[in-house]
Amino acid sequence: MPAFTATAPGKIILFGEHAVVYGRPAIAVPVSQVRARAVVIAEPRWPAGKVWVQAPDIGLNSPLDDLPDNHPLYQAIHGVLMELRLERSPACRVRITSTIPVAAGMGSGAAVSVAIMRAYSAFLGRPLSAERVSALTYEVEKLHHGTPSGIDNTVITHARPVYFVRGQPIQAIQLPVPFSMVIGDTGVSSPTAIAVGDVRCAWQADPAGYEAVFDAIGEIVQAARQALERGETAALGPLMDENHDQLCRLGVSSPELERLVGAARAAGALGAKLSGGGRGGNMIALVDSDTAEGVVQTLLQSGARQVITTLVRQPGGTEPYA
Ligand code: PMV
Repeated sequence: MPAFTATAPGKIILFGEHAVVYGRPAIAVPVSQVRARAVVIAEPRWPAGKVWVQAPDIGLNSPLDDLPDNHPLYQAIHGVLMELRLERSPACRVRITSTIPVAAGMGSGAAVSVAIMRAYSAFLGRPLSAERVSALTYEVEKLHHGTPSGIDNTVITHARPVYFVRGQPIQAIQLPVPFSMVIGDTGVSSPTAIAVGDVRCAWQADPAGYEAVFDAIGEIVQAARQALERGETAALGPLMDENHDQLCRLGVSSPELERLVGAARAAGALGAKLSGGGRGGNMIALVDSDTAEGVVQTLLQSGARQVITTLVRQPGGTEPYA
């Protein structure tokens, strides 16, 4: 039987989370060591219209029609059928697996959706463009995240570093010098929608105070873009520290994040911050070849559930480890 497979990477936000929901810029990069994968296999012996969904990581093995219609996997598959104006799917099995930590700020939901949409639209013989995959994934994200900025679906669909401003065309960002980030998972699952909703309530109660913090974050992001594009990667460290301080002002850090951020800095990281929605999930630390291993070990000793080291680089780049 022909099988159609697609994968999509995880992501981290380097700078600008939360403020990006309020129109400020943010910078995000793909993390290709972790991926979501979707495989669609034709089942010509089954009656037309029968779609079976298997997601062993979450113990799901069910006909599509038995899923609630607000289920993200239902939404991703159904979104493709609607987009292609098809009333009924050819019979098939859709199998989804992912190594991206869930509810940890690495975009696992968006990556699953992108992988499904690519594999399923290819199976249907009408592969969707990146723009449509990103837009449809945004619709799925909206159901579950309330008011997402759109950064996750954008960076994951395009699988390249992006400078993102809500509602504007994406801007690719040039990275002449690669650099390494260590990603530490607190192990505390933290749905983005809750942190985003809490920031919204606090912003409504004190708009001037919160707008000032968003402005400060926006300036950090601009400075980070310049440093990245000039290849001044060491300058990113202090900017990460400043961005983390501003995120603390927004109330989205947590004791576990503080412990890991502090431990990474003490172990020689050039800078560290929470990444994504916060309250749990992941933190990131900028390292060089001298400090990388020490930071990894320190994070593990300080309670990180999982640690990933990733080289952030221009797609297709061949530069050595920095
Ligand atoms: O928790 P994550 O990585 O999915 O990212 C959320 C980023 C926010 O800026 C907090 C929300 C958003 O939609 O941009």
